[in-house]
Amino acid sequence: MHLVRKSVESKVGTLNAWKARVANREAKVGIVGLGYVGLPLALLLSDEHFAVTGFDVDPLKVEFLNSGKSYIHRIEPESIQAAQKSGFNATADFSRARDLDAILICVPTPIDDHSAPDMSYVVNTIEALAPHLRSGQLVVLESTTYPGTTEEIIATTIDRIGEETGVSVLREHPSEEIETPQSLNGVMVAFSPEREDPGNTDVERHDIPKVVGGIDRRASEAAEMLYGSIFRRTVRVSSPATAEMTKLLENIYRCVNIAMVNELKQLCMRMGIDIWEVIDAAATKPFGFQAFYPGPGIGGHCIPVDPFYLSWKAKEYHFSTRFIELAGEVNRSMPEHVIRSVVNALNDQGKSIKGAKVLLLGLAYKKDIDDLRESPSLPIYEMLEKKGADVRYNDPYFPRVGSGRKYWLHTESAPLENLDQYDCVLIVTDHSCYDFEKIVAESKLVVDSRNATRNIRSPKIYHC
Ligand SMILES: NC(=O)c1ccc[n+]([C@@H]2O[C@H](COP(=O)([O-])OP(=O)(O)OC[C@H]3O[C@@H](n4cnc5c(N)ncnc54)[C@H](O)[C@@H]3O)[C@@H](O)[C@H]2O)c1
Repeated sequence: MHLVRKSVESKVGTLNAWKARVANREAKVGIVGLGYVGLPLALLLSDEHFAVTGFDVDPLKVEFLNSGKSYIHRIEPESIQAAQKSGFNATADFSRARDLDAILICVPTPIDDHSAPDMSYVVNTIEALAPHLRSGQLVVLESTTYPGTTEEIIATTIDRIGEETGVSVLREHPSEEIETPQSLNGVMVAFSPEREDPGNTDVERHDIPKVVGGIDRRASEAAEMLYGSIFRRTVRVSSPATAEMTKLLENIYRCVNIAMVNELKQLCMRMGIDIWEVIDAAATKPFGFQAFYPGPGIGGHCIPVDPFYLSWKAKEYHFSTRFIELAGEVNRSMPEHVIRSVVNALNDQGKSIKGAKVLLLGLAYKKDIDDLRESPSLPIYEMLEKKGADVRYNDPYFPRVGSGRKYWLHTESAPLENLDQYDCVLIVTDHSCYDFEKIVAESKLVVDSRNATRNIRSPKIYHC
């Protein structure tokens, strides 16, 4: 036992030496979860000449990446091949974590059917990693989650499994209050939320400031150093829980404001007022107002999901997050509003929804992306079918769809031609590649849930 401890101590490094490895690009970085967040992050690090090892449990993704191919629409295979030249490779073998200086975790954090957090991906990841961790490594959780996760799941699991391996989480001792301690005799643990906005080409990813919060100052400094080499600005907060809450505040802010305009849209329709014109006018105010836009409902991995992580955690404190619940209720009801609009628009033409041929334009949860998660198009599709409509879809980002956790479509994108064969063309996602003028001209009836046809005057358009 004495001998083992001595050999562990002899390997203890310093924070300065760790930072020097980052500065010299000698540091090796691992990314766990090579999805919409992890893969671009791996490429960003590779661009900055870090040797990156990507970990994923999906053998198909590992195989794809190692053969230089991409499975995300906006990522070109050439970027993966360029990263390979800087040492990027993918694996499912977690024992390779031992060789790394930093490991960034980007695995899914969905909700279950009762809107409770599904932490299984985070738990499985840290349980697979922990036996291979060693002192001096930095582990950062990037997945969006409730405040307390980094301490309660990541750090606790490392400490628990570390009882066998002799590795524990690095924490400051009360005597180390003034200066940042140097000795890395444990694993540095931090949280840093991913703030990317998929499809947004106005802001480069490295221009989005990176918030970091470490369990101790060494972890915060190390995380700031690493992220500072790929992001223009880092923002250090006092704890992982503060960083976790920061991400949730950002997403709850969006969720609540979108719900508000979705509600106001329905009122404006009854009052004969154009909500879009109202928002444009209000947005001319140079302070105190930020424009949010209504739509057919919210989608994606973040806005419909993340707020419920906080509602769930709040119950532990006997606290009810009423804004979140109300916003969820309004946003979730939007697909029904769309269906009512389709029914009314067909009715105005003397047609019934039962047996009507409907083309749903755009499956993705927002424009110009290939992401179907939580997309409002899915319940809309299902509700139309339940009402007896004959539904087809068109989406250039999804030539065909199979089944997901919450849908079972198994169909192909219909060609965007002979639009007059449909009784109704329903705009759910306003992809930039759609020529709406042509679509309106060729269709019998267009129901527009995105205001994509705002500059087109035609009696065939029904706004909803
Ligand atoms: N997609 C976004 O735009 C976005 C933006 C901000 C934050 N986030 C957050 O980032 C996190 C990741 O989201 P995403 O969109 O990249 O998810 P994703 O589903 O696209 O990718 C996750 C990847 O993790 C892999 N994985 C699952 N379990 C694993 C395990 N145990 N070990 C290794 N790999 C595993 C999956 O195979 C998948 O490739 C989530 O918490 C999400 O809320 C996402």
